[in-house]
Amino acid sequence: MLAQVMRARVAIRAAREKTMDKKTQSQSEGDLTEALFKEGEIYKPSKDVLEKANLKNYDETVKYAKENPEKFWEEAAEKLEWFKKWNKVFDPSNKPFYKWFIGGKCNIIQNALDKHLKTKGNKTAIIWENERGVSRKLTYSELSKEVNKLANALKALGISRGDRIAIYLPNIPEIAISMLASAKIGAVHSVVYAGYSAGALAERINDAEAKILITADVGYRRGKIIKLKDVVDEAVRKCPVLEKVIVVKRSNEEINIGEKDIFYDKIVEKESDECETEIMDAEDPLFILYTSGTTAKPKGVVHVHGGYMVGVARTINWVFDLKEDDIYWCTANPGWITGHSYIVYGPLMAGVTTLMYEGVPDWPKPDKIWQVVEKYKVSVFYTAPTLIRAMMKYGDEWPKRHSLSSLRLLGSVGEPINPEAWKWYYKIIGESRCPIMDTWWQTETGMIMITPLPVVPLKAGSATFPFPGIEADVVDKNGKTVPLGKGGFLVIKNQWPAMLRNVFKNPKRYRETYWEKIPGYYATGDLAAKDKDGYFWIQGRTDDVLNISGHRIGSAEIESALVTHEAVVEAGVIGKPDPIKGETAKGFVILKEGYKESQELVQAIKLQVRKTLGPIAVISEISFVDKLPKTRSGKIMRRVLRAKELGLPVGDVSGLAD
Ligand code: PRX
Repeated sequence: MLAQVMRARVAIRAAREKTMDKKTQSQSEGDLTEALFKEGEIYKPSKDVLEKANLKNYDETVKYAKENPEKFWEEAAEKLEWFKKWNKVFDPSNKPFYKWFIGGKCNIIQNALDKHLKTKGNKTAIIWENERGVSRKLTYSELSKEVNKLANALKALGISRGDRIAIYLPNIPEIAISMLASAKIGAVHSVVYAGYSAGALAERINDAEAKILITADVGYRRGKIIKLKDVVDEAVRKCPVLEKVIVVKRSNEEINIGEKDIFYDKIVEKESDECETEIMDAEDPLFILYTSGTTAKPKGVVHVHGGYMVGVARTINWVFDLKEDDIYWCTANPGWITGHSYIVYGPLMAGVTTLMYEGVPDWPKPDKIWQVVEKYKVSVFYTAPTLIRAMMKYGDEWPKRHSLSSLRLLGSVGEPINPEAWKWYYKIIGESRCPIMDTWWQTETGMIMITPLPVVPLKAGSATFPFPGIEADVVDKNGKTVPLGKGGFLVIKNQWPAMLRNVFKNPKRYRETYWEKIPGYYATGDLAAKDKDGYFWIQGRTDDVLNISGHRIGSAEIESALVTHEAVVEAGVIGKPDPIKGETAKGFVILKEGYKESQELVQAIKLQVRKTLGPIAVISEISFVDKLPKTRSGKIMRRVLRAKELGLPVGDVSGLAD
């Protein structure tokens, strides 16, 4: 089974390379993982990078953290402000419900905003721009005031510690302000990416039992107006517990005003711009973020104030090597974990300027993204391989129209970066000057886990080594380390402060998904291999979770969306390699009696999936079939579908019912 998935992953990489019109990696014989290691060149850090790095003594730090893990994280925590110091760093007594900084009192806002007011109130905290050329800058002092006003308004609406606030907003400053205001008063935010459908939004609001939803009338994308409020109206009808909907009004578009609706401007205008930061326990929840798993129901991943702030602050400082005058741009959306940790909380805790851009990278022209880098003199740039591949396809002339000399460090996240894309990013965008931090992590890990630091020699396409204090390994299903060069399951063998604490209202799922799959270790759900030098090469998911353009979505979620179409009885969904998106979804569909295959029906079914889940769940292909391969207990064997589709050996089919 493992070998098959590895083969499929190798095929995915190879397919990408091929479309980029470069040599295809050999994948036909021998050790299949070997094909990934052919790009064996090492990229050593320059003298300049070495001299300026925040963390210079890498090897000693790794050793120190391994030998003194608690001390290592305690020292990271001591760099932050706390209301009251912890009594104990780590408590593993109630496994796997681990606790960090026990007895500590804090609030992430104390570190993301409050402490900066004394020293850098007039420094720009957020630069925001959208595709229409509208922009806004907020200093730390202005941001703090905005946050305080909203925090007071939320309190006036009856929100207090522990209450959940859902946020469904475009990439505008108010999304950050809403998250920060929620944290400030000890409420728990649940940001739902504003590309999700009404059904998906309602499901998340209901699971979190959110009392308040913060949204906007519209968003802007590719020259179009996205009527968010219409989606919200449909969702709200299915959310009885929701008390109020706060609407950021950005346009003159007509919107329906329902009885729960109130306007953001109206509720903040009368509020004071001062607000006490709530004193939280280190283990009090900060946010819930829903992510896809193997079942159709998304998991509400819970993160807490104390450990999360320590993990995020430490990683952003070392991985991105942040300096006082950095202009930092992470192109993700705050609706995903990357945006939570490394657009909002991380850069603000580091006290740098974080850029937010509402729009797509290639509209109105393919150089939009590089124009923004040039305009704001971005120095640290963090993006996803799918974006790099898309930009690479447009050709070198687009970035070359702009001065990218402000860049000094690049990052990649969300999926494996293929060596061709890595090299293009390195050479054309980083002008062979900027080290690339290929950061592997997850919604659940809260912080970057496997990554180079600027002083680490790089290999194109490898996330290199675990962050100091993290013990990652590649093992077989019994938890035994596999030999170097062989593929296996990626696990984390120890605990770390920013780890998820639970699945909201579902401790059983938390235990089973993460701690019981591979005895004793945190199961990441990913496949990986280590090469002879110990470098990690991440190869994608082991489970039925797809990664489309760096967005996680479960096969089961798409399957249940497919069967909401009246013509569909049953469906199986697999991921197929795609040169730009990494993966796309293909559906195998059994039609109900009386329905005939047609192109119109394919279109209608695709539309239904989009309506049910939102535009991120684009289904690229649909095949009509009479039967689906199933186990005797009736589970769809997606690996059989995948092997057939990709022309790979089907492997062990003894479990097949028919
Ligand atoms: O499969 C891995 C992939 O993205 C998954 C986590 O997705 P999500 O929780 O949405 O978080 C994405 C951003 C942190 C992982 O299980 N992934 C993430 N980063 C990388 C990656 N795969 C390879 N290389 C990476 N750098």
